[in-house]
Amino acid sequence: MGGFVSLGFAVLLALVLRQLYRVLRGNPRTPPGPRSLPFIGNVHQLPMEFHERKFFEWGRQYGGIIYATLFQTPVIIVNSAEVAHDLMDKRSANYSDRPVFPLLELMGWTNVLTQLRYGEQFRKHRKWIQDAFQSKAALKSFQPLQRRETSILLSSLVSSPEAFADHFRRDTAGTAAPSLTGTLLEEHYARGGMTAQAEDEIRRLSGTIYAAGTDTTVTGLRTFMLAMVRNPEVFKKAQQEIDKVIGSDRLPGFEDREALPYLDCILKEVYRGMTRNETAYPNPEVFRPERFMGLTGTEADDIDPRRIIFGFGRRPV
Ligand code: HEM
Ligand SMILES: *[C@@H]1O[C@H](CO)[C@@H](O)[C@H](O)[C@H]1NC(C)=O
Ligand SMILES: *[C@@H]1O[C@H](CO)[C@@H](O)[C@H](O)[C@H]1NC(C)=O
Repeated sequence: MGGFVSLGFAVLLALVLRQLYRVLRGNPRTPPGPRSLPFIGNVHQLPMEFHERKFFEWGRQYGGIIYATLFQTPVIIVNSAEVAHDLMDKRSANYSDRPVFPLLELMGWTNVLTQLRYGEQFRKHRKWIQDAFQSKAALKSFQPLQRRETSILLSSLVSSPEAFADHFRRDTAGTAAPSLTGTLLEEHYARGGMTAQAEDEIRRLSGTIYAAGTDTTVTGLRTFMLAMVRNPEVFKKAQQEIDKVIGSDRLPGFEDREALPYLDCILKEVYRGMTRNETAYPNPEVFRPERFMGLTGTEADDIDPRRIIFGFGRRPV
């Protein structure tokens, strides 16, 4: 009897010790990460805004793959482009799926591409998007619309520059999604294939593209604006390039893009702002388009931020 009790006690002690060990050391089978508290996990360490700064700090401390918990939910934070390519490109089939987010479901944000798990519906939505945005010809078909929208944007900026943020929002809201929606609706009606379900899917896809395409594009435009205001010497160089190549009696068009390399470097630097890799981008806090100049093709490809910022693997559009 006494032996039985002490065995029970030993088991209990072992369990307590194991729990204590886990709390003190973190679960040894998970990647390194910040120490978490019971129940809330690491929530208390995250600021309300600019999570990415905390992630960056953790990256320096714990490396490219970090384990944390938000309340009871385990999360893996990938903090290195190399790791992201290794996991999300090369093992895309394993890591590009989506978890279920109960809160989003409660909000009705279901059956939308960003949340869709792999399967028939995912493939269909992807195909619809690829048909609309993937081919050079398809992209070219947007150019008249983009040209017209840009003229409207420019004249709004001239007449009320202080409202630039509103103009950016209006401009980006009015392009990609309505056009894709129109094409899909037409196709379905032409084939006599419009059903309530198809209509619902097209509506959800349009909503997703609107949501995915507006804030991102507005942020890009606003970042560009901020960078130009804070770096007048960059702005001046860009203007000189445009004056030299285009002159002052017309606006630049798509066909001038190749002839405006400095402008291209500015755009890359705007995109680059999201990454702070000191090896690839020395003095990452400084806005310096020149970092992209005078590189060989491979060098330029290696540090092209567009390889990173649109995501990895199968999902990015
Ligand atoms: C500077 C602009 C943009 C940036 C930085 C950006 C970035 C991203 C990133 C990081 C993802 C996540 C990919 C993943 O799940 O791994 C994504 C997804 C997506 N983006 Fe963008 N994006 C931009 C513009 C746009 C635009 C203009 C559109 C539409 C016209 C768009 C449509 C989408 C869609 C539909 C998805 C979801 C794909 C899926 O979950 O399968 N994005 N984007
Ligand atoms: C930083 O960039 C270098 C050179 O492109 C690359 O080898 C390295 O993996 C990058 N580091 C991170 C943390 O992404
Ligand atoms: C994907 O995951 C499965 C198990 O879930 C594993 O057997 C397989 O090796 C993984 N593949 C890659 C490329 O990581």
